[in-house]
Order: sequence, then structure tokens, then C-alpha cells
Amino acid sequence: MRIILFVTAIFCALIVSSCSFGPKSSYGFTLPEGNAEYGKAYFVEYRCVDCHTVAGLEDELLAPEGIDPIMNVVLGGPATHIETYGELVTSIINPSHKVSEQYRVTPSIDEPQSMMRNYNSIMTVDELIDLVAFIQDQYELMPMTPTVYKIY
Ligand code: HEC
Repeated sequence: MRIILFVTAIFCALIVSSCSFGPKSSYGFTLPEGNAEYGKAYFVEYRCVDCHTVAGLEDELLAPEGIDPIMNVVLGGPATHIETYGELVTSIINPSHKVSEQYRVTPSIDEPQSMMRNYNSIMTVDELIDLVAFIQDQYELMPMTPTVYKIY
């Protein structure tokens, strides 16, 4: 009996901690709806194409002529580990939050830094929103409800 109670307690603790709504959780985070067409253009303009191809758009979104891509991390399509909208946004504005072993600047240190470029000081929020709208269409993400702003 005691064992059963103990196991139930651990189980409950796990559930509570896995969907924590603490001050630093992403609960309630949404961006306004973006324009995917603009996002696609920014994807080339910001040279995401230096390191990424987009599944199904490999021939369309290319690095500028004469420039060799640095690497090829495929975005979208079925082979992906992005599952939520929050993860997608995080992967752009905080790429070092979760970095695969192979994409660490220095593989051995504890605090990994992603090889991905940091755009936070050069990209506007509007551009980010449009990029997310474009990339989101390439994944099957868990649904999110965008914030609708009234026009005053
Ligand atoms: C210098 C190379 C480089 C550039 C430029 C770059 N990225 Fe990345 N990006 C990466 C690498 C490497 C990863 C793999 C994730 C990691 O660090 O583990 C990644 C991961 C991602 C992911 C998550 C993919 C996944 O399945 O986890 C997204 C989304 C993404 N990048 C979007 C962008 C966008 C949008 C741009 C342009 C604004 C961009 N990247 C520019 C290198 C780059």
C-alpha cells in the first residue's frame, strides 16, 4: 500500500512539474499573426539559406549565387524535432537554449553555444513574426492561437 502511495505521489509531482505555469514558463506566450510571404523573403534576405534548406523548397530558397552554403540543416518536413510554436520561436531568438551535440561551437564545454547566427540585435519583431509564420507552415506544430489586436 505504501509503495502504491509513493508511486502515485511521484507520478503527480512529475505531472505538476512538467506543465509548470511558473513565471518563467512560456505559458500564455503568443506573437501576433505574421505574413508568411514576407517571411519567406526574409529567409533569403537574412541569409538563413547559408545554413538551412526548407523541405520541399530546396530549389527555390538558395544561398546567393557564388556563395557556398556553410552547412545544411533542413527545416520543416517530417524529420524534425521541433514540436511546438514556443520551441520554434526559441530556436530563432535563443538558438543556444538547446543545441545538438554536432552543432556546438565547442562540443566539450557544459554551456553549449549554437553555431546558428544570432539575429536579435538586427531583426525587428515584425520580421521575426513573419519568419515564424513562414517556417511554421513548413512544420506540423501543436496549434497555437495568435493574439488578435484591435485596430483603434
Ligand atoms: C551559420 C549557420 C546558421 C544560420 C545563418 C542560421 N541558422 Fe538556424 N540553425 C543552425 C544550426 C546549426 C541549427 C541546429 C540547431 C542547433 O544549434 O542544435 C539551427 C536550427 C534552426 C532551427 C531549429 C531547427 C530544429 O529542427 O531544431 C530553426 C527554426 C532555425 N535554425 C531558423 C533559422 C532562421 C529563421 C535563420 C535566419 C534568420 C537561421 N536559422 C539562420 C545554423 C544556422
